[in-house]
Amino acid sequence: MYSTPRRSVAFIGSECYPFVKTGGLGDVMYALPRALVRQNCDVKVILPRYKCIPWEYQEKMVYRGAFQMDLCADGRSFYVGIMEYVRDGVVYDFIDNEEFFSWGSPYTNLVDDIPKFCYFAKAALAALNYLDWIPNVIHCHDWQAALVPVYLRTLFADTRLNSAKTILTIHNLKFQGVYNIPTVKYWSGLPDYVFNKDALTVNWLDANMFKGGLTYSNAITTVSPTYAWEIQTPEYGETLDAHLRYHAGKLRGIVNGIDCETWDPWTDSRLPVNYDITNVLDRKKENKRALQEELGLFQDDGKFVIGLISRLTDQKGLDLLNAILPQVIDGNTQVVVLGTGDKVYEDSFRYYENAYKGTVCSNIMYDETRAHRIYAGADALLVPSRFEPCGLTQLTAMHYGTVPIVRETGGLKDTVEPYNQFANTGNGFTFDRYDAGLLLDAINRAKTLYFTNRWCWDEMVQRDMDKDVSWDRSAQQYRDLYLELT
Ligand code: ADP
Ligand code: GLC
Repeated sequence: MYSTPRRSVAFIGSECYPFVKTGGLGDVMYALPRALVRQNCDVKVILPRYKCIPWEYQEKMVYRGAFQMDLCADGRSFYVGIMEYVRDGVVYDFIDNEEFFSWGSPYTNLVDDIPKFCYFAKAALAALNYLDWIPNVIHCHDWQAALVPVYLRTLFADTRLNSAKTILTIHNLKFQGVYNIPTVKYWSGLPDYVFNKDALTVNWLDANMFKGGLTYSNAITTVSPTYAWEIQTPEYGETLDAHLRYHAGKLRGIVNGIDCETWDPWTDSRLPVNYDITNVLDRKKENKRALQEELGLFQDDGKFVIGLISRLTDQKGLDLLNAILPQVIDGNTQVVVLGTGDKVYEDSFRYYENAYKGTVCSNIMYDETRAHRIYAGADALLVPSRFEPCGLTQLTAMHYGTVPIVRETGGLKDTVEPYNQFANTGNGFTFDRYDAGLLLDAINRAKTLYFTNRWCWDEMVQRDMDKDVSWDRSAQQYRDLYLELT
């Protein structure tokens, strides 16, 4: 029995694990709908049917219908197919169109992505109409779905869908979908009046799809309270801080959780040895030795192993790590990197692996299995981000008994309580200013505790495993927001 009324919600976003994932958005699009089902919500997730979705899912999709949709300003129309897949109470509707979604990855370049996500936003609403599924709430994610609220209140204003309330969640304000006004006008087919300075227009010349969505949505959320505050400042606002301050009344932060079925060290089939809070101290050592063996590192469970699992981009604070990595290597410490991204970071980590053979291992790849094994085998996990809307790797690390070392920004600040040596409390090591020396200092504080006061370290490991990082509490907050709006 549920204590709250049922609500129907359409999730619209550009990626979703296990179909396609490039970062945390994919994790959230998978885990939050599942958690909402447990909160008495009826959830449909609308995604592009990218060609790169593995065949094992493609072959299970069921055809639900197709139609032609006019899109562009000159009336040019496009095919919209709807393919459905149901899993654990969540319905996934994939928008099918080979012209837009046949690339190897979800995002390519803005020239292609602008038309692609104009099409996707409109097709998602058209598909809901076609299926005659009128949700209470339409919950959109990031710039790729930001035109949904704009379409809804303009071109779809006369449809039954217009009764739905809209939420736009900011997962990353860095990417906004900005292009010149004539191009966005042409591809979106949106009326001229949305291209004004309070909605889509920025700098007089450009259209900003994210900004338009923020204007037209009923509520804005982002993925942590601290990031909700930060993005209203020029430092983190990515030029939209004034716009967000103007809309602050409908903005709130709700931290992400992790999917504790996918991420459970007790049942995780990718781990050499499973463990829980009662045996983590011994079994983590076994995972550490297996990891060292697999990665060609010196096998010694007495070494302090630091992991980093990340997109290798400027956001993630890798210039700080690059600056101090030689000082981290001291004969008792090993560093394991897993990530892909900007060439400059890929190359520098390759260089360090070469310079410190057997001590540094750089896995320049995207590999889910390796990620699981690093979470389990490392002692600490670094997240020195320049900005971090929420961050999931520190949550997963804690759940696997791996102590996070993070910069105090965004969701990192909201989820990692700094270690207090006097009270013996906290979950990890933190530093505030974006400064390589402070990162080094945090790593050294972690090492000092690990090597000189293992008893307190071990207690922190257990505290971290005990911490609730599941989606339950946050899903409740989203459900409350849905109830508030409807
Ligand atoms: P972001 O969304 O900014 O990339 P998050 O911390 O929210 O950062 O989410 C990153 C997600 O991607 C985590 O689930 C992390 O485990 C995963 N991930 C990142 N890089 C890799 C990689 N190279 N291989 C496997 N998983 C990765
Ligand atoms: C973004 C952010 C990350 C967040 C994720 C999921 O990609 O960079 O901090 O955890 O979205 O919300």
